[in-house]
Amino acid sequence: MKSFKGATVLVTGASSGIGEAFAHNLANRGANLILTARSEDKLRQIAKALSERHTVQVDVFPGDLSQPDTPQQLWEQIQSASLSVDVLINNAGFGRCGPFLAYDYQSYQDMLNLNIKALVGLTHLFLPSMLEKGDGGVINVASTAAFQPIPYLAVYCATKAFVLGFSESLWGEYHEQGLTVLALCPGNTATNFADVANADVTRMTRAETPETVVEAGLRAFLKGRNYVVPGRRVNYLLANLSRLLPRRRVLGITSDIFKE
Ligand SMILES: NC(=O)c1ccc[n+]([C@@H]2O[C@H](COP(=O)([O-])OP(=O)(O)OC[C@H]3O[C@@H](n4cnc5c(N)ncnc54)[C@H](OP(=O)(O)O)[C@@H]3O)[C@@H](O)[C@H]2O)c1
Repeated sequence: MKSFKGATVLVTGASSGIGEAFAHNLANRGANLILTARSEDKLRQIAKALSERHTVQVDVFPGDLSQPDTPQQLWEQIQSASLSVDVLINNAGFGRCGPFLAYDYQSYQDMLNLNIKALVGLTHLFLPSMLEKGDGGVINVASTAAFQPIPYLAVYCATKAFVLGFSESLWGEYHEQGLTVLALCPGNTATNFADVANADVTRMTRAETPETVVEAGLRAFLKGRNYVVPGRRVNYLLANLSRLLPRRRVLGITSDIFKE
């Protein structure tokens, strides 16, 4: 894909943070948008602002992607509206910070459903039409947490390791057929994420803006890359700690960052 102009892009988790920044950046580049998240009012406000500012079409289909049937329902709604998705951005996700047993199993089930199952489900539903066109692809929002074990963020970092492995594997399967599957791996980013996760970010690297993360992600996608760690060099270095140090040493470092 050479540019997003005129393409139709589905963004999950578009009601705030990185997803909302994707919506603004893509509208600015002339892409038509399909926005989803649970907060219908916020999505409609964003859609109204974007439609007033840019000559693009913005459709809103609210839904809870932690529910097993939602990916299929979303796909059906999009087919019924005669829309065709050129690029899928699987961005919706959340974490929980703290000792593993501090949270009930239901919250982990919701996280696994959203961060993994919905992402795989939507990719499975939307990839075939992209493959027919031989163009477009998927941006999956992983994290620098994908690259190493992180005590006190165990389930979240494992979901993001899944997203990274899944995305790069699909890149390997489909890039020769014209599709790009990019794993976007941000470090600490200034969004609602830390509040939702109950994470203390004071020992983390300085937060990037969602706009910086999104710009790097979209550029990497247009270059056909398999993964990108956006922002300052320190994010890239942290992501590669486990290639530089013994795994036990890495466990000590990540544990110190997230221990309460
Ligand atoms: N911020 C960081 O430091 C950071 C770093 C690395 C990776 N990430 C990843 O970046 C992605 C975006 O997060 P963010 O930082 O932008 O946080 P955010 O501001 O909390 O945004 C999360 C988005 O996901 C949506 N969402 C949450 N639960 C959902 C559900 N059950 N069904 C549908 N949508 C749901 C939220 O909308 P509703 O509440 O309206 O549903 C919201 O739009 C996530 O995958 C996160 O893991 C973030």
